[in-house]
Amino acid sequence: MTAAEIAKDIYWVGAVDWDRRDFHGYSLCPKGTTYNAFLLKDEKTTLVDTVSAEFAGQLLCNITQVVEPGQVDYIVVNHVEPDHSGALPRLVAATRPEKIFTSPMGLKVLKEYYDCQDWPLEVVGNDTTISIGRRQLKFLETRMLHWPDSMMTYVVEDKLLISSDAFGQNYASSERFADQVDQAELWSQTARYYANIVLPYSTVTLKILDEVAKLGWEVGMIAPDHGLLWRGDGVCQVLDAYGRYARQAPANKAVVLYDSMWHATERMAGAIADGLVQAGVPVRLMSLKVNHHSDVMGEVFDAGAVLVGSATHNNGVLPSVAGMLTYMKGLRPLNKIGTAFGSYGWSGEALKHITAQMAEMGMEMIDGVRVKNAPKHEHLATCAQLGRTVGQALKAKLAG
Ligand code: FEO
Repeated sequence: MTAAEIAKDIYWVGAVDWDRRDFHGYSLCPKGTTYNAFLLKDEKTTLVDTVSAEFAGQLLCNITQVVEPGQVDYIVVNHVEPDHSGALPRLVAATRPEKIFTSPMGLKVLKEYYDCQDWPLEVVGNDTTISIGRRQLKFLETRMLHWPDSMMTYVVEDKLLISSDAFGQNYASSERFADQVDQAELWSQTARYYANIVLPYSTVTLKILDEVAKLGWEVGMIAPDHGLLWRGDGVCQVLDAYGRYARQAPANKAVVLYDSMWHATERMAGAIADGLVQAGVPVRLMSLKVNHHSDVMGEVFDAGAVLVGSATHNNGVLPSVAGMLTYMKGLRPLNKIGTAFGSYGWSGEALKHITAQMAEMGMEMIDGVRVKNAPKHEHLATCAQLGRTVGQALKAKLAG
């Protein structure tokens, strides 16, 4: 993709990675991603963020459409994770910048990633203002949103917040703005991104939303480092959405996720889902044979109830369920009612293992159900009753 002017003399010069499908365990199917970088043409021409190393050539090509690389005076490193700094060594060599700005933790992490002893690194923080000519840049450290080095850059005159990973989506597109694409898909990807990347840092997110409000920064455009840029009404919409996501208020929704060996746990899952529906709770029934764990998290993060099933396998749970529980635990979802279920042949430990792990995540656990070998009609009735019990508990919680 070529450079695109997103505001007067401010250019998107990043890269679209149409083919990326995995992001440290987060499945990007089917949308790929973008690595956004921004060039501010001014007395001190400034590049904010770079791209993944394999797209360094693309970034340089896009910069060249606006200025010669040697005319880049400053580089701002909002975040050192390699999808945004991988191209930095090549960029530094090509541009020979006068200064490279980063957060205090950014300095530390850059030194851990790169041989950068000769780079003109300079630390900036919340009290720093840098003039680049017609514009002033301010900075907001956003530690643990989502790395210790993370920060945002605010371009005062353009009311532009370059927000690093926050407010992004993994969404490869030729369009640059959120209002140019299908809105249902946009919001689905925005929520899925939050659930799989930002969720563990929800407390920090709320604090940063508060800080941005207190700073009194007028924000007319939010430019994340992945996906589409927010402008117009989209700015308030995404700020509101992040507030909602971060508060993790439970919705009237349940996710029944499971894996099965010989369809017994699968039939139990179906009966439990029926019970939830009878209690008036919409359900997502998700087999781990066909749903990736990041798709499941996209549904779990705002669900009020999570019901996890596994056949007992080698005295434990099936590998897909073990992986799902590990992934879920790392993302620290809050405010859930939980229960466990599953079939077994002789020892039946799965229920105990799942229950313990969900309790460790802080879920309010309701006693689950296990069935020996294949569920008969009366067992499925018990499963449906479990669904109703969870559904009624969720309804009572939402009403209270
Ligand atoms: Fe998109 Fe934390 O890197």
